[in-house]
Amino acid sequence: MASARPGTPENPLRVAIVGSGPAGLYAAGQLLGRDDPVVLVDVFDRLPTPWGLVRAGVAPDHPKIKSVTRVFEKTARKPGFRFHGNLEVGSDVTHEQLVNAYHAVIYAVGSAGDRRLGIDGEQLPGSHAATEFVAWYNGHPDYADLQFDLSCRRAVVVGNGNVALDVARMLALSTEELAATDIADHALEALRSSRIEEVVVLGRRGPAQVAFTNPELRELADLELADVIVHLADVQLDARSTAALADADGTTKRNVETLAQYAATPSSGRPRRIVLRFLASPVRIEGDGRVESITIARNELVAGADGVLRARPTGRTEQLETGLVLRSIGYVGTPLPGVPFDARRSTVLNQQGRVVDPDTGEPLCGVYVTGWIKRGPSGVIGTNKKCAQETTELLLEDCAQGRLVDPAGSADELLTLLHERTHVVDYAGWEAIDAHERSLGEPQGRPRVKLVRRAELLERARPLSPSATNRR
Ligand SMILES: Cc1cc2nc3c(=O)[nH]c(=O)nc-3n(C[C@H](O)[C@H](O)[C@H](O)COP(=O)(O)OP(=O)(O)OC[C@H]3O[C@@H](n4cnc5c(N)ncnc54)[C@H](O)[C@@H]3O)c2cc1C
Ligand SMILES: NC(=O)c1ccc[n+]([C@@H]2O[C@H](COP(=O)([O-])OP(=O)(O)OC[C@H]3O[C@@H](n4cnc5c(N)ncnc54)[C@H](OP(=O)(O)O)[C@@H]3O)[C@@H](O)[C@H]2O)c1
Repeated sequence: MASARPGTPENPLRVAIVGSGPAGLYAAGQLLGRDDPVVLVDVFDRLPTPWGLVRAGVAPDHPKIKSVTRVFEKTARKPGFRFHGNLEVGSDVTHEQLVNAYHAVIYAVGSAGDRRLGIDGEQLPGSHAATEFVAWYNGHPDYADLQFDLSCRRAVVVGNGNVALDVARMLALSTEELAATDIADHALEALRSSRIEEVVVLGRRGPAQVAFTNPELRELADLELADVIVHLADVQLDARSTAALADADGTTKRNVETLAQYAATPSSGRPRRIVLRFLASPVRIEGDGRVESITIARNELVAGADGVLRARPTGRTEQLETGLVLRSIGYVGTPLPGVPFDARRSTVLNQQGRVVDPDTGEPLCGVYVTGWIKRGPSGVIGTNKKCAQETTELLLEDCAQGRLVDPAGSADELLTLLHERTHVVDYAGWEAIDAHERSLGEPQGRPRVKLVRRAELLERARPLSPSATNRR
């Protein structure tokens, strides 16, 4: 067992980060970006590919946003960094094994689960979580075999967040617009023969309560094939929303303005439409063996005791014919075996990023959390930088205060064992996948053509041992 203080050249601080999305990579960059303490970082991911939702969530027609991976690549090239893809913590390797091998473990696993509406008919074929649709069009290997029936004329998207806008846009983009992106080939093929003409987006509250960001709402106007339709009556705010708007943030005010502009713009007769509806909640999905229609309740807004305006059904309903319902009502975190979980918030139980013991409320020695699984599924990529900063500062403070203890086991022995048991993809393996995908995309004028099968990804990654690659 090492005797020097953790964080010295003789006994570097060994940190395992679980999850290679923005939160994990920002944390890695922050830990490796300093000379003192000396830190070595091993990043684990259940997928053979890194970057989390930047690869598997961000919409294919938003390539500029994906360029944040350059920051992550810079981190990955730092001498103390190693990537171990295709290793799931909780099944391939346990929390206890990590705690036994590292001074500190940071969980950055995101929130990949989907939320349910809890209405009749939600299980019918043709009703899906947006999480699945997103993962499918982005080529996530666990979702590559899903099928979405795009033969109907109208799709309904439930929810008023940016993910709802992403999926609505993906359904409305022309084949030419899609063909220039890194959308998975299976999704490009399916969307090429889509017959969807109208995408109805349902917000349960009003225009002053949407969760869109301004550029995402405004860019709908730039779609080649689709008009944006907002009914005039829907943008006339109730008295409470009008009063709240006076004190609202700039994002809310600009969203309301944009929606009013859409309502005032006559349809140009483009072949597709995105219809933004408000004060409308799905109450039932109907169909004989598959989705055929959805019943929507008309809502009004009422203030709760906390002053928040909430939707309440007025009793008026209407039925819309549709063959595809995508619920985009937020993501949800799932527990990891052995890691304390806050079931109410669906996050790892923590205080500012220190994971705490559920019985005592005291921090667990050397266990931390960051990103969506720390604070819940909200915030853009950059939000995770500040979130990771809070966590890594506490970790470094704990190290400086002597609160981190030398692990009983060795990280290198654990990694040797894992590499013997599983086909682990190291960073060089990912670089081989990356180069191959880019070379497939280049002749087509696309950023890349994604490999979507786990077997294909593993085959393309060079199977080298941790001593030969991932070299520090
Ligand atoms: C559909 C969608 C589109 C978005 N588009 C944008 C956008 O355009 N711009 C923007 O700024 N933000 C966007 N966001 C938000 C942004 O993606 C998130 O803020 C960010 O990805 C959260 O980072 P994270 O690291 O916490 O989680 P994630 O990005 O989800 O990363 C978690 C990682 O952990 C891995 N993992 C999970 N479980 C395990 C396990 N047991 N063992 C090992 N590894 C595991 C996962 O494979 C994944 O790689 C979008 C979000 C979604 C859902
Ligand atoms: N381009 C980008 O920057 C981009 C793209 C995608 C995602 N993101 C970010 O990723 C995060 C997650 O996005 P998200 O869209 O999944 O979540 P979100 O922003 O939290 O939006 C969820 C939406 O679902 C609605 N909702 C929740 N439960 C509902 C129910 N039972 N019935 C009807 N509607 C319901 C919410 O309405 P209420 O408000 O009434 O609860 C809200 O409009 C956000 O921070 C987002 O900004 C960013």
